[in-house]
Amino acid sequence: MKSSTVFVGLLFAVFAACCQAQVFSWGNCPRVQVKEDFNATKYFGKWYEIMRFNKTSFEEGTRCIYAVYSNGTRPGTVGVRNAALRGTEVETAEGYAYAPDPTQPGKLKVRLSESWFAGNYWVLDTDYRSYAMVHSCTGFWLFNFQLNWLLSPIRNVTSDVVESALQRFETSGIDISNFIRANQTRCPDF
Ligand SMILES: *[C@@H]1O[C@H](CO)[C@@H](O)[C@H](O)[C@H]1NC(C)=O
Ligand SMILES: *[C@@H]1O[C@H](CO)[C@@H](O)[C@H](O)[C@H]1NC(C)=O
Ligand SMILES: *[C@@H]1O[C@H](CO)[C@@H](O)[C@H](O)[C@H]1NC(C)=O
Ligand SMILES: *[C@@H]1O[C@H](CO)[C@@H](O)[C@H](O)[C@H]1NC(C)=O
Ligand SMILES: *[C@@H]1O[C@H](CO)[C@@H](O)[C@H](O)[C@H]1NC(C)=O
Repeated sequence: MKSSTVFVGLLFAVFAACCQAQVFSWGNCPRVQVKEDFNATKYFGKWYEIMRFNKTSFEEGTRCIYAVYSNGTRPGTVGVRNAALRGTEVETAEGYAYAPDPTQPGKLKVRLSESWFAGNYWVLDTDYRSYAMVHSCTGFWLFNFQLNWLLSPIRNVTSDVVESALQRFETSGIDISNFIRANQTRCPDF
């Protein structure tokens, strides 16, 4: 498997200095609620990207994106492996996630090997079997940079699940017009 420096990963979000990879909005970050009793162990497994924020530039030109979460090598961490196709080439990024505050297990940070930077990865909600709503935002008082994802262990998840998640993103104060559908069709195994 070829790892690429260009593809820095599905979960990896926030370079303050590298704002073109982010969606700019006025105002501070939305006051979202995360899943209070998030259980990372139940989250282990393979998750397909169903929707993402447009202008997630490190993902542009890629398709069939998925992430695999597993027991991390260090206690209390989650192993992260992202994979995508660019043309016929497989791009991967590996790293780990952790909750800096154990009382808030849904507020994770993700660090991928190619980066010194740990991006926010907040699980707004998940049922562990059909959807996960993931939010990443960095606020600078007057404006913010934001990315959001809808993930599912089911590659062809029903539109009911997608519609209901979109509605709930919107209720959380997230501008859902920035979402684009990820391409999960005609994907080979990789
Ligand atoms: C998290 O889920 C795992 C697997 O289902 C379970 O064994 C564990 O007790 C759960 N942890 C908490 C804190 O509920
Ligand atoms: C996504 O962004 C591209 C480039 O900025 C734009 O051409 C396209 O219309 C956008 N799509 C959506 C659904 O907003
Ligand atoms: C994860 O790894 C730890 C050791 O680091 C082990 O104690 C624990 O049982 C493992 N959990 C699962 C769900 O495999
Ligand atoms: C999704 O794919 C599976 C297996 O390929 C198939 O059995 C199922 O009917 C599909 N579901 C939908 C909603 O298309
Ligand atoms: C998804 O990718 C496949 C393979 O490249 C392509 O045939 C298909 O048209 C794409 N679908 C969409 C909706 O872009």
